[in-house]
Amino acid sequence: MELTAAIKGRRSIRKFKPQDVPRNLIMEILETARWSPSWGNTQPWDLYILTGKILAKFKEMNLQQTLAGAEIASDVPMLTQWPDAMKARYGQLGKIVLSAQGIKREDKDARDKYYQNMVSVFDAPCLILACISRDNLVEYQMLDIGIIAQTICLAAHDKGLGTCLLAAAARYPAEIRKIAAIPDDKKIVVGIAVGYPDTSSPLNNFARERAKLDEFVHWME
Ligand SMILES: Cc1cc2nc3c(=O)[nH]c(=O)nc-3n(C[C@H](O)[C@H](O)[C@H](O)COP(=O)(O)O)c2cc1C
Repeated sequence: MELTAAIKGRRSIRKFKPQDVPRNLIMEILETARWSPSWGNTQPWDLYILTGKILAKFKEMNLQQTLAGAEIASDVPMLTQWPDAMKARYGQLGKIVLSAQGIKREDKDARDKYYQNMVSVFDAPCLILACISRDNLVEYQMLDIGIIAQTICLAAHDKGLGTCLLAAAARYPAEIRKIAAIPDDKKIVVGIAVGYPDTSSPLNNFARERAKLDEFVHWME
């Protein structure tokens, strides 16, 4: 796939086909992604790949914690207050995602169902948990993990797979560790749902918004 087409064609996939992804395909993607740049080539990431029964347990745990209203206790603090411009974009995304499914704002049951689907990682057959070391945490490690995460998403797209980065999969690390043996000295930063995209789903087809270049590009001549 041509690179620009891959970058522009990748989108978050929120409905997957009920089809497993072969392990060797995931490994091919990770083989590509390991060439991602990082500060001083430190490669500070660890990736934990959850599939099968472990992933089923993960989905159930994340759903039950959500239904129980458990307080989010992520390893990386999650913002609840956003600066105005970002809050507006976040709100806009929420609206688009719901309206793409024909869900009205006042339909709380349908909204809850969608939210429960999200914390169940959209029922993807594979979840990658991207982690960094708890010690020596510097912001650059977060940058590095972002870079490899995007490379994974692009390499997956190139192979005909879909992905969705999911902060919603990293909310309950203590519970995750009871299911998957992720060492306590690793911070669980973000999940990446991986699977074959259901290309017919409205959830994978709505028009996405981006700021215009002149809103964030500042030439200094
Ligand atoms: C760090 C991070 C966390 C995210 N967490 C979620 C999430 O929990 N749920 C979700 O539906 N999308 C999540 N996303 C996907 C974003 O909503 C998505 O990237 C954004 O709306 C742009 O859309 P696109 O990926 O389709 O281009 C996350 C993205 C990033 C980078």
